[in-house]
Amino acid sequence: MVTLFIGLLFIKGISSLTITTPPEINVSLVSNSSIVLNCTFELDVNERVRNVYWGKKLHGTDYNKLAEFAYKIAIYNKEHGLSLENRSNIHSFSDTSQSAILNITDARCEDVGQYQCEVEFSVGSIGKTDQKYTDVYLQANAERPTTFSVHPNNSLEEHEILNIACVAVVGSPHGSLAIWEQNVSSNTSTLLKNTSKVYIDTDHCISVANLTMTYKVSRHNNGAKFMCSSRNKFTKEPAPAAEFGPIEVLYGPSNTRINSFDLNAQLFIKDSVILECISDGNPNPIYAWKFNHSSIGNNSKFNISTDKSKLSFTVTNISNSGLYQCVAFNYIKGNMFHSSSNVTITVQGRHEEEYPMELVKTCLENPCLFIQNCIMRNGSAFCSINIWAVVAIVFISLALILGTTTMSLIFARRTQKKNTVSSTEEVDMGGYLSPVGHADRSNYASLGQETVHEYSTMRNRDLFSHGSNYEVLGQNTVHVYSTMQNTDLI
Ligand SMILES: *[C@@H]1O[C@H](CO)[C@@H](O)[C@H](O)[C@H]1NC(C)=O
Ligand SMILES: *[C@@H]1O[C@H](CO)[C@@H](O)[C@H](O)[C@H]1NC(C)=O
Ligand SMILES: *[C@@H]1O[C@H](CO)[C@@H](O)[C@H](O)[C@H]1NC(C)=O
Ligand SMILES: *[C@@H]1O[C@H](CO)[C@@H](O)[C@H](O)[C@H]1NC(C)=O
Ligand SMILES: *[C@@H]1O[C@H](CO)[C@@H](O)[C@H](O)[C@H]1NC(C)=O
Ligand SMILES: *[C@@H]1O[C@H](CO)[C@@H](O)[C@H](O)[C@H]1NC(C)=O
Ligand SMILES: *[C@@H]1O[C@H](CO)[C@@H](O)[C@H](O)[C@H]1NC(C)=O
Ligand SMILES: *[C@@H]1O[C@H](CO)[C@@H](O)[C@H](O)[C@H]1NC(C)=O
Ligand SMILES: *[C@@H]1O[C@H](CO)[C@@H](O)[C@H](O)[C@H]1NC(C)=O
Ligand SMILES: *[C@@H]1O[C@H](CO)[C@@H](O)[C@H](O)[C@H]1NC(C)=O
Ligand SMILES: *[C@@H]1O[C@H](CO)[C@@H](O)[C@H](O)[C@H]1NC(C)=O
Ligand SMILES: *[C@@H]1O[C@H](CO)[C@@H](O)[C@H](O)[C@H]1NC(C)=O
Repeated sequence: MVTLFIGLLFIKGISSLTITTPPEINVSLVSNSSIVLNCTFELDVNERVRNVYWGKKLHGTDYNKLAEFAYKIAIYNKEHGLSLENRSNIHSFSDTSQSAILNITDARCEDVGQYQCEVEFSVGSIGKTDQKYTDVYLQANAERPTTFSVHPNNSLEEHEILNIACVAVVGSPHGSLAIWEQNVSSNTSTLLKNTSKVYIDTDHCISVANLTMTYKVSRHNNGAKFMCSSRNKFTKEPAPAAEFGPIEVLYGPSNTRINSFDLNAQLFIKDSVILECISDGNPNPIYAWKFNHSSIGNNSKFNISTDKSKLSFTVTNISNSGLYQCVAFNYIKGNMFHSSSNVTITVQGRHEEEYPMELVKTCLENPCLFIQNCIMRNGSAFCSINIWAVVAIVFISLALILGTTTMSLIFARRTQKKNTVSSTEEVDMGGYLSPVGHADRSNYASLGQETVHEYSTMRNRDLFSHGSNYEVLGQNTVHVYSTMQNTDLI
């Protein structure tokens, strides 16, 4: 266990020297800030530090030595360190401090970069070196662009090329410029171009970026804004930005279409038709209408709205069928642009087979038969058979037939009766029953039709009781009996 511990110490001792430097330093030039390059080391018992150097990166892995430190001694490097002499102080390591310090008190642009602390030391009799690095960043704020231009800057036509230029102090580190298109309708920004190319003005210790680009405008950019933002590593959102716009893009009518009722629905005479023309364009398109290729205007037939976007009419004739066309047009810098759309309208004739019942618009003008009722359904009038009218007609007809039959029967009976009476008279004339016949003559004549049958069913008893005289009557006078009975009964 003790051996292991000693072994660990020994292993650690081989490379136990540790160097600590600040990994990065942000320096702002606005205030008097200092850059404290502090290189601190920790030694093991068998280690000794000989020299410490602070150097500044030149390029690649080359560093210019600025200051050199030995035990309690610090000097500026004769080649590269003298420029720092009047604006820095240096402190070497000692028994009490294990830090080699280069304190640049009046920081400048040129101080920005990477620094290296190199430690030369010995482990026993073996010489070794080790390094650590510190990055010094200039902390400068990005500023609002000084120039942001868009050319041409008015009355842009679609497909025109814009030249956009933006210049700004982007600050440091990692300053960049970005040009955006701000879509107003969707409230989104699209990055068009970004640059990290920065010119450092060492005289004024500022980082300036210059970004130019071309952009082909489309109709979608109408109303859009352009933005140029300046930012760097330290910038907090929103970044300082310049804005241009909103821009106006002129373009001819497009996407012209006609909105209307369901064109698949059947269209009949007296139906109303409303067509609305819609088109996209800037300036707003003007509309014109054509029917069967001829221009139409407001007249007794057609009604066109004030802005001419709507055409309405009532179908009066099958010849209202045809091609209805809307032409949308506008003028851009004296040139006319147009686009059109059309619909074909077909007015349906009457279909007797399909609609056995008359189909008209209202009941006022209904052509229904007298046995039909006019009923409104779905805005149309229909004729339907009236069952009560039919029943009434059947009854009236039956009554008429019955009446006629009855009348003809009565008439027929009367004729028969007349014939019977005549024969009786003839018999009377014959004088066989002159007194009886004569006395009863008027009675016979008054016999009603209704009693005929009863006479014929005259009972024998009755006949017998009344008619000894009758018995002498000849065969030919049988009819008389039958009519005589009545007299007795009455
Ligand atoms: C330097 O600035 C960067 C960015 O703000 C930050 O992340 C970093 O911590 C700063 N470093 C120091 C040492 O202040
Ligand atoms: C910076 O320090 C110098 C001298 O040390 C002084 O003259 C100057 O006013 C200081 N500037 C600021 C902004 O503190
Ligand atoms: C240098 O750094 C060491 C360790 O980080 C610290 O103890 C010491 O105080 C620093 N010296 C100065 C002058 O900042
Ligand atoms: C530093 O200051 C001294 C005297 O103040 C001057 O002679 C010398 O030229 C200065 N060095 C630099 C590098 O400015
Ligand atoms: C660096 O130098 C400035 C100016 O002499 C001093 O105020 C500051 O305390 C120094 N910083 C360190 C860590 O030595
Ligand atoms: C447009 O550009 C002209 C010159 O090209 C300039 O005078 C005018 O101010 C600009 N307008 C805008 C809104 O930038
Ligand atoms: C702007 O946003 C609208 C709606 O999202 C989109 O239709 C249009 O294409 C966009 N324009 C551009 C230039 O991206
Ligand atoms: C657009 O977005 C910004 C920030 O995201 C918000 O403040 C603004 O209200 C939005 N505008 C619209 C019209 O949505
Ligand atoms: C622009 O490019 C730089 C460097 O590539 C990057 O750091 C920065 O985030 C980019 N900016 C935007 C807005 O994308
Ligand atoms: C920006 O860069 C272009 C070419 O890259 C140059 O012509 C123009 O002068 C520059 N503008 C500024 C303000 O630096
Ligand atoms: C319009 O054209 C259609 C189809 O060619 C035709 O049926 C209709 O009668 C025409 N109408 C007029 C008024 O010319
Ligand atoms: C009507 O529009 C169709 C496409 O919607 C097109 O093919 C046709 O040529 C147009 N007719 C006329 C006469 O413009």
